[in-house]
Order: sequence, then structure tokens, then C-alpha cells
Amino acid sequence: MVPVEARLEAYRRLFRLDGKIALVLGAASGIGKASAEALAALGATVICADKNRAGAEATAAEIGMNGRAEVHMLDAGDGGAVNAMAAAIANTHGRLDIAVTTPAIHVRKLMLDYTDDEYDRVADLNLRGTFFFLRAFGRMMVKQGGGSLIASSSVRATTLEPGLAIYGATKAGIIQMVRGLASEVGQYGVRVNAIVPSIVETALVGPLRARPEIWSALGAHTVFNRWARPSEVGAAVAFLASDAASYITGTALLVDGGWTAIDGPPTGLTKTHTEAR
Ligand SMILES: NC(=O)c1ccc[n+]([C@@H]2O[C@H](COP(=O)([O-])OP(=O)(O)OC[C@H]3O[C@@H](n4cnc5c(N)ncnc54)[C@H](O)[C@@H]3O)[C@@H](O)[C@H]2O)c1
Repeated sequence: MVPVEARLEAYRRLFRLDGKIALVLGAASGIGKASAEALAALGATVICADKNRAGAEATAAEIGMNGRAEVHMLDAGDGGAVNAMAAAIANTHGRLDIAVTTPAIHVRKLMLDYTDDEYDRVADLNLRGTFFFLRAFGRMMVKQGGGSLIASSSVRATTLEPGLAIYGATKAGIIQMVRGLASEVGQYGVRVNAIVPSIVETALVGPLRARPEIWSALGAHTVFNRWARPSEVGAAVAFLASDAASYITGTALLVDGGWTAIDGPPTGLTKTHTEAR
């Protein structure tokens, strides 16, 4: 029997990422930046990629990777560029243990008003871009016999508001891609998961900040009555990346503050109960 101290130490080590090589595409901002920080804080070497080179460089510098790990500038919707980055990483590092992708856009517009071009822009980056990423780094991880792939979905994969039909369709598609790929690559030790945030304070939702009534109504849709900090999603990414999640694959991990758990208006019962105690 393994002594208890050794067993407890093994649990602590499960959450560490020392010696692992990680890639974050979308590292310049928001959830990608927070994920890069969380992975680095737990010991991984983090490669920062984004279409915004200055932003990716700033994240790399902040997490102490400056001069130690490369920064890649690319368009996540360009399959050739994604493949080239995979080849460059294989060449430099020989392996990649963790690959996270976050870039996505939405055009907030009624579906009947959507143009072909708007549909293509949203689907190309969100769905094809995620496919390019999962394919390129999935191949690499299958070859090396292990790894953790993490894609970005949204609660809009299941619940919607007017104007987000196409975005939501891409986010539902990402979950199905994650499940399908997980079923195909598990035998090679590769895990594939998605994070599913609800509302996170990032540049993506910047325009909503200027509309305080909508901002607070959205916050009130969660059980915490607030938006998520990017670090709260970055921490979930780091968990999925770690060996602590070794039996977790093909999942869509809600990081939604209870957004999808509740329905209907508040009744005041929570308060009554609290006061009764
Ligand atoms: N913020 C939210 O409330 C929220 C909620 C649910 C889901 N999400 C999802 O989380 C993910 C990350 O969102 P975020 O809020 O961190 O966004 P963000 O705008 O803060 O960050 C996105 C990053 O991706 C980069 N990027 C955009 N297009 C790119 C491209 N074509 N190629 C390479 N890089 C590109 C941007 O430069 C930026 O650094 C997205 O997939 C989004 O749909 C966000």
C-alpha cells in the first residue's frame, strides 16, 4: 500500500504542469490571455499565438516567456497557417502537451437579415478555424501518443437570444467536433474537451459595457449576479489541461455561473430562507 503522504503528494502533482509545453491560440486577450497565465503559473512553457502579434508578445512577456518561448502571429481561419505553426512547434519543441484555441467572432444580427458574407465570416473562423486547429494539433498528439486539446464553445450552443443564431450554431458544432474527435483519439491517449462560458468580461463583449441596463440584466441571469472574470475560465482551462482531468474527455465543461441551471424569474425564496435561519 502506498503511504498516505505519497498519495496526497500525487494529488498535488496532478494539478501541476511542470515540464509541459502548451500552446494558446488567442493569447493576446480575454480567455486566451487568462489561460496562458494560468498554464504558465502552474509550470507549463506557454507558446502564445494570435493574429495580434503585439498582444501575444505582451502576454508572453508578462508570463515570463519572453525570449524563452516563441510567439506566433497567424489568422486562425487560415488552415495553411495553422498547419505551418504545428510544423514549426514540432520542429522547435518536438512535442506539444496542451493546445487551447479561443478565437471567435459574432455578428449580432437577426438571422433573416444575415448576409452570405456575414455567415461565412462567423462560420469560417469559429467552426472551420476550430476544425483546422483540432486537426493539426490532434494529428501531432496522436503521433506522440498523448495530449490535451481544448476548444471554446459557449452557452449559446444550447440557449439563445435573438441575433445569435449563427454564432450559436457554430458553438454547438464545436461541441460535436470535440465529442467526435474525442471518440477517435482516446485510444492514443489524447483528450479533447470544450469550455462553455456564459458571460465573461473581455474585449469580445466590450460594446455591451456601454449599455449598463443590458450589462446588469445579463449579470442577473447567473446565480452569482455578476459576470465572470477571465481568470475564472482560465482556471477551468488549466484543470482540463492537467493530469487531474485524466479521465475527462469529450466533455463540454460549463463555466457559466449557473446560467443554464436556472430558468424563470427570481421568487425571493432564497432571501426568505436566509432570513429564517
Ligand atoms: N466573453 C464572453 O462572454 C464569452 C462567452 C462565451 C463564450 N466565449 C468564447 O470564448 C472565446 C474567447 O473569447 P474572449 O471573450 O476571450 O474574446 P477576446 O476578443 O477577448 O479574445 C479573442 C482573441 O482571439 C484573437 N483573434 C480573433 N480573431 C482571430 C483570428 N482570426 N486569428 C487569430 N486570432 C484571432 C483576438 O486577437 C483576441 O486576442 C471565444 O470563442 C468566445 O466565443 C466568450
